[in-house]
Amino acid sequence: MLEKIKNASDFIKKKISFEPEIGIILGTGLNSIGEMLNDPVIISYKDIPEWKASTAPSHQGRLLAGKLGEKNIVILQGRLHYYEGYSMQEITFPIRVLKALGVKKLIVTNAAGSLNKKLVPGNLVMINDHINWMGNNPLIGENYDELGIRFPSMHDPYHKRFIAIAHEIAKENNFTLKNGVYLALPGPSLETRSECKMFAKMGADMVGMSTVPEVIVGIHSNMKVIGISVVTNLSNLFHSAPHTQEEIRANAAKAKNNLEKLILGLFKKI
Ligand code: HPA
Repeated sequence: MLEKIKNASDFIKKKISFEPEIGIILGTGLNSIGEMLNDPVIISYKDIPEWKASTAPSHQGRLLAGKLGEKNIVILQGRLHYYEGYSMQEITFPIRVLKALGVKKLIVTNAAGSLNKKLVPGNLVMINDHINWMGNNPLIGENYDELGIRFPSMHDPYHKRFIAIAHEIAKENNFTLKNGVYLALPGPSLETRSECKMFAKMGADMVGMSTVPEVIVGIHSNMKVIGISVVTNLSNLFHSAPHTQEEIRANAAKAKNNLEKLILGLFKKI
């Protein structure tokens, strides 16, 4: 594992001339955030040694590195999902590489279904806690002390001060920003109505198929972590019509302007 991380990060370091401070992962339908960087270095995932290609629809599979104002940023356009058949270690490998590049602050975004009537499609939500319902954990197996401790605390995985800063940015820019608990499932089948009922009772506000493994590895890597969900659909707690990938992408697009403002603000202020 350590050698694989070194191979991938050495390859990227040869192509970028600076040490990135902030890393961001873009979820389903959120690729356009990548356009914010001026003149970025663009590297296709398939060219990076040891890095698996993303097979999910609308995940571009590119790493973009560049400057935004004073900040050195790496953007991952597209992620790997557990449901694609990759291991937990493979889907979180990019986080290990970001850490090796020097990233100290990690922003993880996703598209999520709502389990809470107050969170409606198009809303942006700061994840303030999560429930790992994936039945697996990326830290299972040998622990490499060079990468992190055996039993990392999950007391407050989502950095409280950064959540407060995000709310300041939303206020300044006049858009709605909520908080919520994200529950991660392996997928790819969507949740049943009874499962949704159970998840809501358990305290979850949003449901999705990503993010949590990346956040666990971010915390293991001693990064400060932010999670943002874009609510793309109501879960079937509230309706019986199946939602489509088109609906998810259309609602992600609706949130685009506010998400751009939020992320730009975070790049400046964190
Ligand atoms: N369920 C699971 N994953 C999702 C959903 C959903 O409703 N929406 C976007 N990703």
